[in-house]
Amino acid sequence: MMSGRPKPLPLLSTHSGRDRMTCLYRCANACDHPVPNTSANPYLGDLVRAGLTRRGLVRLGAAGALVLGVGAGSQAGTRPARAAAAPGQAAPHPAGALTFTPVPPNTLDAVIVPHGYDSAVVIRWGDPVLPGAPAFDVHRQSAERQAAQFGYNNDFLAVLPLGRDGRRALLVSNHEYTNEELMFPGFTTQEAMSVEQVRVAMAAHGMSVVELERVGRTGRWRPARGDRLPYNRRITMLASPFRFTGPAAGSPLLRTAEDPAGTTPIGTLNNCSGGVTPWGTVLSGEENFNQYFVGGDQAPEDLKPKLARYGISTTARYPSGSRRWERAQERFDLARHPHEAHRFGWIVEVDPQDPHGRPRKHTAMGRFKHEGANVIVARSGHVVAYMGDDERFDYLYKFVSAKRFVPGNRGHNLTLLESGTLYVAKLSGDSPAAEIDGTGRLPSDGAFDGTGRWIKLASGHRSYVPGMSVVEVLTFTRLAGDAVGATKLDRPEDVQPSLVTGKIYAALTNNTNRGVGSYPGVDEANPRSPNRHGQILEIVEDGGDHTGETFTWSLPIVCGDPEDPSTYFAGYDKRAVSPISCPDNVAFDRTGNLWIATDGNALGSNDGLFATAIEGPERGRLKQFLTVPPGAETCGPFLTGDDRSVFVAVQHPGEISGATVDDPASTWPDGDFAKPAVVVTWRPDGCPIGT
Ligand code: FEO
Ligand code: CA
Ligand code: CA
Repeated sequence: MMSGRPKPLPLLSTHSGRDRMTCLYRCANACDHPVPNTSANPYLGDLVRAGLTRRGLVRLGAAGALVLGVGAGSQAGTRPARAAAAPGQAAPHPAGALTFTPVPPNTLDAVIVPHGYDSAVVIRWGDPVLPGAPAFDVHRQSAERQAAQFGYNNDFLAVLPLGRDGRRALLVSNHEYTNEELMFPGFTTQEAMSVEQVRVAMAAHGMSVVELERVGRTGRWRPARGDRLPYNRRITMLASPFRFTGPAAGSPLLRTAEDPAGTTPIGTLNNCSGGVTPWGTVLSGEENFNQYFVGGDQAPEDLKPKLARYGISTTARYPSGSRRWERAQERFDLARHPHEAHRFGWIVEVDPQDPHGRPRKHTAMGRFKHEGANVIVARSGHVVAYMGDDERFDYLYKFVSAKRFVPGNRGHNLTLLESGTLYVAKLSGDSPAAEIDGTGRLPSDGAFDGTGRWIKLASGHRSYVPGMSVVEVLTFTRLAGDAVGATKLDRPEDVQPSLVTGKIYAALTNNTNRGVGSYPGVDEANPRSPNRHGQILEIVEDGGDHTGETFTWSLPIVCGDPEDPSTYFAGYDKRAVSPISCPDNVAFDRTGNLWIATDGNALGSNDGLFATAIEGPERGRLKQFLTVPPGAETCGPFLTGDDRSVFVAVQHPGEISGATVDDPASTWPDGDFAKPAVVVTWRPDGCPIGT
């Protein structure tokens, strides 16, 4: 019987604000394992040079009264999704003022939106995706059923226009990981799960494509109805074939017994964030793929250091948190199939307009724990993708296509990510190292800022890393970054260029090991020790050239409680900003305001979605737009191109240690037990979101 008894709020662990249960299922307790980056790269505190003072003006003002508006079901409509700007496309709009009343920190078991807004569930775990899919029954779940239903733990979202009338769209969602304790009534241990339950979990991973229809003329959307939904699709870990592209495709490192050609991996793993390309495809990052493999202790000796650099245990057959997928498919046993792990950790490109097409994994974009990839078209017409490797002390990358974007030539543009140049970032601070003391206190020039270089790792079929072939650089990209002295960052998550200004924003989510014990110390880009709340990194390419190799950077937002002196909000009066902790995903609205979703609030509140102007006098005036239920993180987010609707993925609601299906920590969204779900928020008065 369900007691509905609320579980205690997530305990603040030593590593982040996430609950232990999330740590186990999302990344197999990565924080309990040694940091995989043991390279001896210098950190940027060693590299000081003179620079300009750059501090925003302090502005006075007081936070307004806080008003709650709990999202209920109602109706609304949307617009076509945004895609990256093509060359020559006019950009700058004046920043729209963010006038909504902020949602205060809270621990309510609901999605909370500002007064004057409404929200509704679009689709939840188990809802039908393929025509004829059976209704969800948690007591009768099977792999076959799950493979036709919406997967678990929705993360990245894209909403792409379908047709020209603004009434239909395709929702593309990642399904990052599963939590079997919250999926199967009576769950005891991973080892005790039946093989069929393992297969259910494999089917609940991957991606979904779901046709949506606008509700009336509102900003609300719902799944389209009917028997003919030709675009609806599930991509799962069970049997969905992919195709490798780029220089490493077909290489010996990607060959396995099942795929001796090394060209056709099966499935996609731990898809976290992503992006939308100007040609209407979706990019998806394969992130914590390491946790799905066993038998690393029996892998070939020469591969062990490479496996370890990606967080795969090479000392235990069954590392803690093992999902035991090798019981369903032998390929997850590295003792027998040591190259299978190389077939994950890539950027995936899916064309939602081609429901029978084979998605691709682009080896030219490198292999790491990809958070996601976001694309902008440079002035030259080359396509540039910015990417983060989400691990403590790992790196920031960019990819520049070899070919140019051709407006209107979709067939050509679909090939742009198959060849190009891969770079990793090296950042230098401009303040004396002694002024970066770990407290978060601003240095005397008034800013955490400096310059940076993009270091070339590989271009086409040529390696720029001594001692590594191009295939090795692309397959073991972390090791290439180590070799060239890339900057160790505080978990680079989403990285996205603003299509209004061309500036790039990266969420550095946290790093509780920064400056602790023998771990690397603080530097100007990672200035707090330990770093529990994260920061936003802003990058400006020199000359506005996204294909260039030099840039400047700063930290406009150093997150946390505004009353904490280590926080910074671009110089804005901290009495007028919302507390924020652990930024994860970033997005922009039509006018260029920066939207930030959080994962792992270490301040005691539920996670949320925030927005701030990032240009002009309101820069740094951060306000919380919504919050999600306990245990959940806020993913997505996706603002439709007309700014009438904002979609968020509520991932792992109720994921609090001790919770089960029968004794849930959250009963959102249906009042029975917790289900990950996609939510849309809109204004019933039809005005743009946020303003
Ligand atoms: Fe899946 Fe980096 O969060
Ligand atoms: Ca400085
Ligand atoms: Ca994420």
